Formats: sequence, structure tokens, C-alpha cells
Amino acid sequence: MREFDEHSITTEVIDRFAGGSNARLRSVLTALVRHMHDFVREVELTEAEWVTAIQFLTRTGQMCDDVRQEFILLSDVFGVSTLVDAINNRPAPGATQSTVLGPFFVEEAPPAEQGSNIDPGDNNGGVPLYVDVTVTDPAGQPIAGATVDVWHSDAEGFYDVQREGAGLARRARFTTTADGGVRFWTTMPASYPIPDDGPVGQLLNATGRHPWRPAHVHFMIEAPGFRHLVTHVFVDGDRYLDSDAVFGVKEMLIDGFPEQPPGTAPDGSTQPAPWHVLRYRFGLTPTARG
Ligand code: BEZ
Ligand code: FE
Repeated sequence: MREFDEHSITTEVIDRFAGGSNARLRSVLTALVRHMHDFVREVELTEAEWVTAIQFLTRTGQMCDDVRQEFILLSDVFGVSTLVDAINNRPAPGATQSTVLGPFFVEEAPPAEQGSNIDPGDNNGGVPLYVDVTVTDPAGQPIAGATVDVWHSDAEGFYDVQREGAGLARRARFTTTADGGVRFWTTMPASYPIPDDGPVGQLLNATGRHPWRPAHVHFMIEAPGFRHLVTHVFVDGDRYLDSDAVFGVKEMLIDGFPEQPPGTAPDGSTQPAPWHVLRYRFGLTPTARG
């Protein structure tokens, strides 16, 4: 056949992708073509809209460089990142849910000592936060020697890497103690807008959506025999919990970060002003599941 109408073209395109030995590629492309063509037919895409879409995707690509990944951000605001995460990281019963990684993870975070303060105080202050978390298996048995990466925004909602000329701060890599614990001081994170000075920001703006994420602390946890866990703990009461721009919130990942009065903290230090504490258990999912 040479000539295709607005319906017969779909089968023909699918058939043309049917060669090659990669069965998975074939099945993904088949579904992609089917959904894409159905979408174009359903909305009766105009030529002007098609040009707008091409230009939008072109600008999205042009916005990408070593530190800015506008396509991942686009996936985030469409909920695709959260959907892919949900499908690929179903937790074992008793284990902790994962959520999006986000663009502010740094591969080589500075190793930190238990009990240290990972906020160098370069962010115009911030309310002290004592973090006391444990890493366990799904049944609650502690996992010693797990690697725990932590990173979060400052009190003004900026990550260290967003502040020009600033060094790494409010991020660190810990190793869990024999009781599976990680304890350290930092400062309370704040809610912040995702990078919205590019095409993704324009899309949010054009559709009346805000770019904000509720305040949270990121954790990435690795231990032999368990799936690595990429997650956050969100601050309860944050105004954006119900409208996270990237759909990353899960009920089990919300904690009160309760405020504590001045006085003696769990590590024996004296706190002259109110401070907050985050106590949380991260349950890891075994790699081999029965
Ligand atoms: C973050 O939490 O760091 C983040 C996640 C997705 C998009 C932008 C930021
Ligand atoms: Fe974040």
C-alpha cells in the first residue's frame, strides 16, 4: 500500500517498526504510535498547534546543559517521573515508598561524621533541625553500614548548587551505625519553586499552575541486598503538600518535624532557642523478594 488515510496510517507505521530483533523496542513503539495517533485524531491537532509543540520541544532541548535537564523537569510536571517511579519501585510490605530524585542531587557528596552539623550557616540563618533516622529491613531490623545521602534546601528555599559561588552545603553522605542510625544537625528546609525560567515554567504559567514544592529533606539510601531507596521526608503542614508541582508527595513520607523547646538536645548539646527534630524509620525493600 502506498496511500494512507487518517486511520489506515496507524497500522502501517506500526508495521514499519516491526523489524529488528528487539521485541521490547517493538512493543514500546507499537503502543507509542497507537497512543500518539489516537491523541492526534482525538484532539484534531491543528498545524499551528503542531508547530507550537515542535517549537516548545526545541526550546526544551535548547535549555538543557550539564546542570539543567529541562526534559526531566517536563516529565516531572506531567507526573511521568512519579508514574515511572511508582511502577519500578513498588515497596515490599513494611518498606518505605520512593519518590522523584530531582535535579539537585550531587554524585559525590562530602562524607560526614555522625553527630556533625551539615549546615555551615551560609544561608542567612535557619532554625536548627536534629535528624535522627534509622535504616531497617521491612521487618524493622536495623541495617548497619548503609550509605545515606542527604540533601535539602536552605531556609530561603535554595539548594547550595543554585547559589553562585557557594560551596556544597546541607548535603552529606553518612554510613549507618550498628543500630542502623544516622544522626546529625542541619536547619529546617523551606518550600521552593522548581526552576521555572524556561519552557516548563511557561507551560505551568499558561495553565495556571504554580511551580512550588512543599518543604522536604531528600534521602538516598543504599545497602547490599536491598534496592536503593530514593525518597524525601516532607514537612507536615506545608501549604503545598496537596499541590506539589511534581506530584511527589506520599502520606507515609510526611512527618511533623515537631518543634522542641530550648534546652538539652538528644546529643547532649544545649540549644538556646527552639529547634526541630525529624525521627523517621526507612524500611528498605530486599532485592530478592519471595
Ligand atoms: C527536588 O525536589 O529537588 C525537585 C524535584 C523535581 C523537580 C525539581 C526539584
Ligand atoms: Fe528537593
